[in-house]
Amino acid sequence: MPDILIAPSILAADFANFGAECRAVQNAGADWIHVDVMDGHFVPNLSFGPATAKAIRPHVTGTMDVHLMIAPVDPYIDAFADAGADILTAHVEAGPHIHRTLQAIRAAGMRPGVALNPGTPASAVAHVLDLVDLVCVMTVNPGFGGQSFLDMTPKIAELKRMIGDRPVHIEIDGGVDPTTAPKVVQAGADVLVAGSAVFRGGSVDDPAPYAANIKAIRDAAQGVWA
Ligand code: DX5
Ligand code: ZN
Repeated sequence: MPDILIAPSILAADFANFGAECRAVQNAGADWIHVDVMDGHFVPNLSFGPATAKAIRPHVTGTMDVHLMIAPVDPYIDAFADAGADILTAHVEAGPHIHRTLQAIRAAGMRPGVALNPGTPASAVAHVLDLVDLVCVMTVNPGFGGQSFLDMTPKIAELKRMIGDRPVHIEIDGGVDPTTAPKVVQAGADVLVAGSAVFRGGSVDDPAPYAANIKAIRDAAQGVWA
């Protein structure tokens, strides 16, 4: 069975304490830190940009997984490389030249990812699977944390078949919790982003719930093979 990686989204963290929140969820068992960048144009919300990602970087011991919900992408690639992003994911819907974007991300020294909105078919990324390290399947319409999970199980299974034996992660983003995690893992996902389901009930002063929340997601996901 594949290892399941849990990537807490700091969109659900305390924005005044990102460094401490990153340390707390890593101590609680997080594998990656997922950093959601929103521009108020590609999605109807604003979060933060490369300067904030750079400030977070020293507090991330493992992989910093940056999800760009912005358009255009290309003018900001170097800034995210400078910020220390390990994975930089662009939406396939964000512009007309996804190959150029993914090649530029690789050329800047990062691992490229491509994300699909819920309404976008798997076929939209068929011709870029050799260029990416990760495909992110959105299970909410991007822009906000805490939304209800949209079931993309057939699309995940189709992408799994399309990816074949390429070393490409399938990441799920939106509404992941212990009830939805098993479905997406069964369909082929191996990276689970979770905001609300990780940070709920805890804080930097009381981070104990984070470990229980992460364990609940991981146990549910791995229960698929039990
Ligand atoms: C949605 C973001 C997600 C989001 C996940 O636009 O890309 O990463 O923060 O949050 P939850 O887990 O609360 O759906
Ligand atoms: Zn995200």
